[in-house]
Amino acid sequence: MRSKIVAGNWKMNKTLEQTETLLLELSAKLPDTNAEVMVAPTYVNLVGAVQSLESSMIEVIAQNMHFAESGAYTGEISADMLLNIGVDTAIIGHSERRAYFGETDEILSKKVVAALNKGIRVMFCFGEELQDRQSGNHFKIVESQLKNALFSLEASAWSKIILAYEPVWAIGTGETASPEQAQEMHAFIRKTIGEAYDSAVSTNVSILYGGSVKPGNAEEIFSKPDVDGGLIGGASLVADDFVAIIKAI
Ligand code: PGA
Repeated sequence: MRSKIVAGNWKMNKTLEQTETLLLELSAKLPDTNAEVMVAPTYVNLVGAVQSLESSMIEVIAQNMHFAESGAYTGEISADMLLNIGVDTAIIGHSERRAYFGETDEILSKKVVAALNKGIRVMFCFGEELQDRQSGNHFKIVESQLKNALFSLEASAWSKIILAYEPVWAIGTGETASPEQAQEMHAFIRKTIGEAYDSAVSTNVSILYGGSVKPGNAEEIFSKPDVDGGLIGGASLVADDFVAIIKAI
């Protein structure tokens, strides 16, 4: 059975003190849920977050990692560094990494392999840009992103993969894919994985939706059969909003 997951991507927001305050508030207000709840603070606040959530069911995950073991990669963070502080899940392929930091499918594929080799669970993000959707190319783009970064993995590796479909036009824009658009794409993703592997892999992988999920639209999006939760940006920075989204699942 695949997991339900709600993850907050805090991006480049919150100082150490603000991170502590938000985590305290989230821990205090966290509803009973069967879903996995995750937060991704910025690197410098990961250690503090792991420590403050020691006895909480909220999991701390990383926003990114590098593919190399170690070495001359100024500004980067390795899998071992994450594991060493108790972080064993990393977001890879977020559209902001692709758009602003030049992360190509080829780089992402290396990151995925490096993470999995170390036992790090990968939350792999992908999704089409506005012009792809307008020109009707969105299914093709999504299929090629999956294929280029993930389809050379062994079937067994997929137990450590979480997918996050995030149409770029819906990220941080206030525009959301309609629940029907999300379901249509998620069903397509599951079918594509089923064809590349088998139905066990496609049925068991969690596929999250991301892109302007808010308390007001979360329930309807999460009610769709192929949507297994959400990757939340802006709304995860406000405890009451994130808690409302967790309740919606
Ligand atoms: P948003 O961001 O919820 O602010 O649109 C989502 C994401 O980037 O993961």
